[in-house]
Amino acid sequence: MKTAMKGLILSGGRGNRLRPLTYTRAKQLIAIAGKPALFYGVEDLVAAGIRDIGVVISPETGDEVRHALGDGSRWGVRFTYLIQRAPLGLADAVRSARAFLQNSPFVMYLGDNLLSGGIAHLITEYRNNSPSAIILVTPVEDPRQFGVVVLNGHGRVARLVEKPVEPPSNLALVGVYLFDPGIHDVIDSLLPSARGEYEITDAIQGLVDRGRAVMVHQVRGWWKDTGRPEDLLEANRLVLSQVSRDVQGHVCDSELVGEVVVEAGARITNSTVRGPAYIGADSVVDESYIGPYTSLGKGTTVYRSEVEYSILLDGAEVRHLPYRLDASLLGVNATADGQRNGVRRHALRLVLGDLSQVLL
Ligand code: TTP
Repeated sequence: MKTAMKGLILSGGRGNRLRPLTYTRAKQLIAIAGKPALFYGVEDLVAAGIRDIGVVISPETGDEVRHALGDGSRWGVRFTYLIQRAPLGLADAVRSARAFLQNSPFVMYLGDNLLSGGIAHLITEYRNNSPSAIILVTPVEDPRQFGVVVLNGHGRVARLVEKPVEPPSNLALVGVYLFDPGIHDVIDSLLPSARGEYEITDAIQGLVDRGRAVMVHQVRGWWKDTGRPEDLLEANRLVLSQVSRDVQGHVCDSELVGEVVVEAGARITNSTVRGPAYIGADSVVDESYIGPYTSLGKGTTVYRSEVEYSILLDGAEVRHLPYRLDASLLGVNATADGQRNGVRRHALRLVLGDLSQVLL
C-alpha cells in the first residue's frame, strides 16, 4: 500500500512586504472576506482528502497561528505544528518538517497563497503517474517578483530562476507544490542563495538536474500570492467575486445590491451596500455607502462614510470621513475619524505607525 499523502502549510516567514500590519500579526491570519488567508489553503487540502497536515510556524507568530487553527478537529483533520527557527527559505521550511513528513509524499501550500481551482487534480495526477514533483505555473505580467519557470519544447521543465531581473519566461511558479520524499536529499545538498535563503526553486531545479520527473500544470481559475497590500485587496476582490448573497444580520432603511453577505449580529441602517461585499458579524454600518469588493471584519463600524474596494480588519472604525476610502487596508482596531468636538473636519490629523502609507 502507498503511504498516505500529507499536507504541509507554510505559515512562518517575515512578512516584510506587509508592514506595518505584520508587526503585530502573522500575515497568513489577515482575513479575506472574513476568513484568514491561511484557512483557504487548509480547506483546499481537506477537500482533496488530506487528513494529516503539518503547519510550519515561526517562534514570533507561531502561537497566534496555533490559536487560530487549533488541533484541526474543526475540519476533521490533525495538525502538527513545526517550528522553523529562522525564516531561512521555503526549502528550509521543508527541512524543519522532515520528522513529520517522514517518507510520505506531500502537498506543500504557502499559507499566504489562494487558489480558486483546488488541488484534487494534483493528487490524481500523482496517483496515476508517480512523478517526483508536480508544480503549478501561471502566466503573470511582471514575473520579476516570482520564481520563474522555463519549459522546453515538450512542456517539461527546463529550468527555474528565483526572482530574475530579466525574466526568461512569463510563467510564475505558484505556491502550491506536490513532492515525493526524494525532495529531502536534494534539499540536504542545497547551498543558500544570494539572498541567504534555501530556495524551493533550487530544490526543484535539483530534481530536474538529477533527471527526475517534474510535471507542470497550468493553474485552473485564478491564483493570488498575498505578499503585498495591493495583492490582499486583489485577493479580496477575487474571493468576493465568488460569494452569494446571504443576509443574516439586521438591515433597516437600506439598500443591498447584488451579492452581499451580512453576518449575524451585524446592523446596516440608512445605508447602501453594493456587492460583492462582506459585512462581518457584529459590525455597524450607518448612514454610509459600502461599495463593491469591500470586506468588513467582525465588530467594525462605518458611520457617515463611504468605503470601496477595501478591507477593514476586526474592530476597525471609520466615522465622518470627508473623502471616500478607496483601495485601503485598515488593521485590527484601527480608527479613522473625520470629526472632532462635533465639527466635521476637512483637515487630516493622523497618528500612524512606522512605515504606514497615506495616499491622498
Ligand atoms: P514569502 O512571502 O516568500 O516570504 P515572507 O513571509 O518572509 O515575506 P516577505 O518576503 O514579505 O518578508 O513566504 C511565503 C510563505 O511561506 C508565507 O506564508 C510565509 C512562509 N515562509 C515560511 O514558513 N518560512 C520561510 O522561511 C519563508 C521565507 C516563508
